[in-house]
Amino acid sequence: MGLIISNHYIFQCNDTDGNRGHRPVKPSYLNDCFRPKADIQKLGYSSFLSTRITKFCFEGGSVRKDKPSMTARKVALSVVTLGVKPGMDRILPSGVAEATERLLIASGVVGPATIRWARSKRMLSIYENAFDWMMPGQLEAFAHRKSFCERQVRDGIREGATQVLVLGAGYDTMGWRLSPEYPDVTFYEIDHPATASLKSKGIDAMGQRDNLCLITEDLGKRKLADVLKSNKSWDESAPSVLIAEGLVMYLPPEAVQDMFFQCDEITGSGSRIAFSYIPTGTDGRPDIGWLTGILMWGQKAIGEPWTWSILPEELGSFLEKTGWMIAPSLPGTTHKYGIEFFIVATK
Ligand SMILES: C[S@@+](CC[C@H](N)C(=O)[O-])C[C@H]1O[C@@H](n2cnc3c(N)ncnc32)[C@H](O)[C@@H]1O
Repeated sequence: MGLIISNHYIFQCNDTDGNRGHRPVKPSYLNDCFRPKADIQKLGYSSFLSTRITKFCFEGGSVRKDKPSMTARKVALSVVTLGVKPGMDRILPSGVAEATERLLIASGVVGPATIRWARSKRMLSIYENAFDWMMPGQLEAFAHRKSFCERQVRDGIREGATQVLVLGAGYDTMGWRLSPEYPDVTFYEIDHPATASLKSKGIDAMGQRDNLCLITEDLGKRKLADVLKSNKSWDESAPSVLIAEGLVMYLPPEAVQDMFFQCDEITGSGSRIAFSYIPTGTDGRPDIGWLTGILMWGQKAIGEPWTWSILPEELGSFLEKTGWMIAPSLPGTTHKYGIEFFIVATK
């Protein structure tokens, strides 16, 4: 028997190479105190192999520092699948699924066969059953997240913002789609070089935009404020919209606070920041639901662990210390979608 941690799912298999007998793992041996070595042994691995697998997953062997983000790919493929889910056209921003398909292919992140698979009824059914079984509501939550962020950008521009900055943009297409519609606004995106360079290749193939600037930078190595100060076109006094969609949960706690401080430093008054976050559960860990232990382990195994969460009631004071105020009057911020809350803060 084997355990595969695939892009989205955890499968139990009849053979050790995992080619046959795929089906979702039954939760009987999973609990919130997931003990990797013991649990891997329960799956039939020897003590030696369990130690190797545990080392690989927990001691840095799998950290994908220089590889394109798996989670960005996952979000983008989910958007493609949502594009064929009945009713989602009422939630997804117009044209997002088609643009994401084009970007994924043009950047070489996936081939046409993967897109066909992502658009298939079978994939949709896997998402609706296995993915939602593990994280209830999470597939549709991606559609709401895209819609929420785009609404904040459009509302912010309507109220005078002249710059939009998407942090940890991954394969998001908002900048590419909205930049022709708002020629007087400059769109910036920042992502880790491994992911951003692939995306840049895709954007080149799809058609460059004069007012879209892709910045490749590891924000763990260089401060956001320094990155933007060295970009001559960024105006620190301009009202801006900042988006951090599906990002803060991947940053170390001190980096999250620092990120908000720096976002304050680089923006003018009247700016807003919209972001999603995972709330802290009663055990002090990010609350991913009933499979928290194993899902956190899976994220760590792909080198993108969830490292930050906060109690919703503490978010206001956390943000205030960094120069931002939660804006409850702005729409879309009180409901939990899947595992995340969406928030917008202003200054
Ligand atoms: C879950 S993905 C979300 C992508 C996109 N925001 C979306 O929702 O479609 C997280 C993104 O954050 C980026 N990221 C994580 N740590 C980063 C860092 N230190 N510097 C720059 N980008 C980072 C990853 O490369 C990845 O593209």
